[in-house]
Amino acid sequence: MKVRINLNQTKYPIYIGKNISSKSDKILKSNSIYSNKYLFIVDYNVPYRLVKKIIIKFKSKEIFIKRILFKEKNKSLKTVENILKLLEDKNFTRNDSLISVGGGICGDVCGFVSSIFKRGIKFINVPTTLLSQVDSSIGGKTGVNTTGGKNMVGTFYQPSIVISDLVFLDSLPKKEIICGYAEILKHSLISDKKFFDYLKKNHQKIFNKDSSHLKKSIFKSCLIKKKIVESDEKESNLRKTLNFGHTFAHAFESTKGYSKNLNHGEAVLLGICAAINFGYDRKILNKKDFKKIYEHLNDLKYSDLNKFFKRKDINKIVTFMQRDKKNKNNLINLILIKSVSKPILNNVYNKSTIKRFIQKLIN
Ligand SMILES: NC(=O)c1ccc[n+]([C@@H]2O[C@H](COP(=O)([O-])OP(=O)(O)OC[C@H]3O[C@@H](n4cnc5c(N)ncnc54)[C@H](O)[C@@H]3O)[C@@H](O)[C@H]2O)c1
Ligand SMILES: [Zn+2]
Repeated sequence: MKVRINLNQTKYPIYIGKNISSKSDKILKSNSIYSNKYLFIVDYNVPYRLVKKIIIKFKSKEIFIKRILFKEKNKSLKTVENILKLLEDKNFTRNDSLISVGGGICGDVCGFVSSIFKRGIKFINVPTTLLSQVDSSIGGKTGVNTTGGKNMVGTFYQPSIVISDLVFLDSLPKKEIICGYAEILKHSLISDKKFFDYLKKNHQKIFNKDSSHLKKSIFKSCLIKKKIVESDEKESNLRKTLNFGHTFAHAFESTKGYSKNLNHGEAVLLGICAAINFGYDRKILNKKDFKKIYEHLNDLKYSDLNKFFKRKDINKIVTFMQRDKKNKNNLINLILIKSVSKPILNNVYNKSTIKRFIQKLIN
């Protein structure tokens, strides 16, 4: 399966399938990507036997491999510097390639390095988590965290090619599957009613890593993000709808101090829950769709904020929501939906409205 991303300045393909990464050399060749040197940056938790299967085919080239245990903590300028140093030491030129084999962190860091080394070298992304296959590998956002916050420094830089191999998902822990699923669900809610109905019916098969359902949902998700990114590459308008559920979600994660007890996917599911409740309260979201989405979140066990937060957390949550990047003039900006697949931008509310609403949810 293939999805083509067509942007003003560049285009590139995303290949999706099981065991396709072992044919990476051929895929690159068929897309006329030739380099003399390749630096593989590999997430430590990716089974190395799968990495070997890719690398063995590159044996006629000059290849370098660096395995890194990626965490949000080292999604940093220090790691960027270390990789830049490797490229410099090995005399990489603009025609050479950096290949990321890992999740969203590895991909964001490698994309950023590729965009700044000699003002841009070839970047090949092999995403190995469900989240990176359905979300972060599409659309060219790269970056790292600073003391100022998450993804504070970064660029828009598109890869030359993305190879999404389902074989990597075999070793992915269940709690990581939920991160990808939350973004898949978000994609369906902002743009595809039929896909939402499909997820509602088949989500358990996705959680059980059934190949054909995984493949279908990865493909669908890529198509949705493709459409959005192609119409608004630099996030001036429509791309903002990808933040659906995220203003709440980021505040939930921050309130919990990014603890393992609430990962990004779980926070997004709770964020979607808060956003649909808010939309329904304000008579923006219709009752039928509210009920359908609520039921699904209930099946997933993410329809009750009280399981995760106490009343004493409310002030913290509101304060974090006020710091959201989308806000202007001290007002809190939310992405809402009118119905499944009909998002609306620029809904602004003051702090006390949001606080009263969260007090209703957490009691
Ligand atoms: N660029 C974008 O548009 C965009 C969009 C969404 C998220 N992001 C970024 O993506 C990051 C999250 O990505 P993620 O969820 O992939 O997290 P991640 O990269 O931290 O990977 C999750 C965990 O899975 C492990 N892992 C990776 N592949 C594995 C495999 N095949 N088998 C077993 N374990 C494996 C990793 O070591 C890590 O522990 C965040 O930093 C976020 O800011 C970027
Ligand atoms: Zn997200």
